[in-house]
Amino acid sequence: MHAMMFLEQKYNLMFCFFLALLPFASVGQSHKNISLGSSHTAQAGNSTWAVSPSGNFAVGFQQIEENGFLLSIWFNQIPERTIVWSANGGNLAPKGSKVELTSDGFFLLNDPTGNRIWSAGSSGSGTSHAAMVDTGNFVLASQSTEYLWQSFDHPTDTILPGQVLNQPSTLVSRYLETNY
Ligand SMILES: *[C@@H]1O[C@H](CO)[C@@H](O)[C@H](O)[C@H]1NC(C)=O
Ligand SMILES: *[C@@H]1O[C@H](CO)[C@@H](O)[C@H](O)[C@H]1NC(C)=O
Repeated sequence: MHAMMFLEQKYNLMFCFFLALLPFASVGQSHKNISLGSSHTAQAGNSTWAVSPSGNFAVGFQQIEENGFLLSIWFNQIPERTIVWSANGGNLAPKGSKVELTSDGFFLLNDPTGNRIWSAGSSGSGTSHAAMVDTGNFVLASQSTEYLWQSFDHPTDTILPGQVLNQPSTLVSRYLETNY
């Protein structure tokens, strides 16, 4: 009897210890920038490549059609994950397409056979990482966090607070619900 009570107490203690550690575990993995050589493949459904530190914005693939995926940035904390930016002129990529930050700093979208669909027009040189920033800006940055390329410089259909429309630039409204 005594032994059983002891065991029970021991497990209760272990459980409390486990619960106490949980918040630290989730804080530890809450935010990571994208390092060189990372990639993400379009699979069934919507899938996230990176989330901003606050969790407000995410970048990844949204499935728009059966075999059509949009490399995009969306509001990540509302039920309708509204897209605020998209790559490749809003053109969809087939399932199995891959977005990549190459080891030499290029930000690319390739189809499943490895053919280039789109690339951000940055030279790659000096790029040390990519980041989904809390403002909704997706950036390629240098070691000293200088932005070498940013989605804010390539608006699609949405302007976010803090985003500047430089000359010349255009905003293009979405044509249909499934046609960006
Ligand atoms: C992806 O997200 C959009 C926007 O929230 C949603 O309309 C759509 O149903 C989602 N697609 C899947 C396959 O979950
Ligand atoms: C992530 O990247 C941003 C933009 O370059 C930078 O300001 C931030 O310090 C980086 N965070 C980490 C954890 O490396």
